[in-house]
Amino acid sequence: MGRISVSVLLLVSLGFRAGCCAYSAMQVDDSSESSERSLLNTENCGKRYYDSEFPVDSRLFEHPWLARFGYKKDETVNYVFQGLLINSRYVLTTVFVTQFKDMGLLAYVRIGEHNSSTVIDCEQQTPGEEKCAPAVQDILVDAIIIHPDYDSFRQVNDVALVRLRSSANADGDSVIPICLNRDVDLQSTFLLIASWCGRRDTGLSTVPKQYMMKTISPHECTALLPRHTVSLANGMFCIVFDEKHTQPTAPALEPNLRGGSGAPIYTVHEGNRIFLIGLLSYGPRYPAKLHEPYVITPIAPFYSWLLDTMERDFEQQAYITAD
Ligand SMILES: *[C@@H]1O[C@H](CO)[C@@H](O)[C@H](O)[C@H]1NC(C)=O
Repeated sequence: MGRISVSVLLLVSLGFRAGCCAYSAMQVDDSSESSERSLLNTENCGKRYYDSEFPVDSRLFEHPWLARFGYKKDETVNYVFQGLLINSRYVLTTVFVTQFKDMGLLAYVRIGEHNSSTVIDCEQQTPGEEKCAPAVQDILVDAIIIHPDYDSFRQVNDVALVRLRSSANADGDSVIPICLNRDVDLQSTFLLIASWCGRRDTGLSTVPKQYMMKTISPHECTALLPRHTVSLANGMFCIVFDEKHTQPTAPALEPNLRGGSGAPIYTVHEGNRIFLIGLLSYGPRYPAKLHEPYVITPIAPFYSWLLDTMERDFEQQAYITAD
C-alpha cells in the first residue's frame, strides 16, 4: 500500500555557486494597478517561436515559460525540477517540488533557462544566423502557497504557487508565461511533456527534452502499477510515452522522466499557442520501464483556485507594502 514514491523523479544536477551566476533581477515594479491587471492578462501567453514539429531536444525559445528551482545549502544552489511561469509574479508547480529538502531550502526560481551548461544560451537558427538569449533571471522566492486540500498520502490536489520577490522580466522571446487550460472537457489531439530529465547514469539533460505522450484509462493505469494504490481524484489522469514518437533503439536510449517533477503536460490550442494541461505529479521508481505510467495533476479544475488565490495574495501584498 501507499503512493508511489515521488523521490525517484529527481536528483543530480550541476552545482552552482550562489553569486556566481546570480542575476540581480530587481526590476522596478510597475504600479500595483498595472501589475494586478497583468495577473489576468493572457493576451501574450503561450506564444510559440516555432511552428510545426516538436523535436525531442527542445530548441532555444521553445519553452520560455519553463522555470527551474534553486535549492540553497550553505553557499551552493542546485537547480532542478520544473515549474511554469503563469505571469510575471507567480510560478506554478507541484507540492513535492516546493517541499523538497534534500538539497537545502527552496530559495530561487530560475527563469529564462534553456541549456543548463552555458551561461549565455545561443543556438544556430538558420545557417549563418545565431541567436542568443539574455542571461537567466534568478529571482528569490517570496512565498509558497500550497493547495489547502493537498493530501500527501493520496497525492491529490497536488498544486502549489510560488510567488516571486520581484517580477520576472517577460521579454516576449526567452521569457513568456504559458496559457492555462480552463476547459475540463478539452479533448487534445496530442499531448507533450517538457523537462530537464534523464537517466541516473547519464544525468539530467542540458536542454529540456520534449516527448509525445498519450493518456491511458484509470483502469489501464492501475493495471500497469499493480503494486501501488493509485488514487485518481479531481481529474487526475495517467500518461505513458507515445512510442510512435519515441522509438528507442536500445534500452540505454529509452526516455526517462527522472527529474521531471512539476513538468508541464501541454498541447497546442487556440491558434498556435501552448496551453498547460497538467503537471507531472509522480511516477514510477527509477529505472522506469518505457510503458510505465506517470500521474498528472490537471490544471482546468484548479483554474478558479489559481486565479482567486493569486488575486487575494497579490492584494494582500499590495496592502502590506502600501505603508
Ligand atoms: C548545450 O551547450 C553545450 C556547451 O556549449 C553544448 O556542447 C551542447 O551541445 C548544448 N546542448 C544541446 C542539447 O544543444
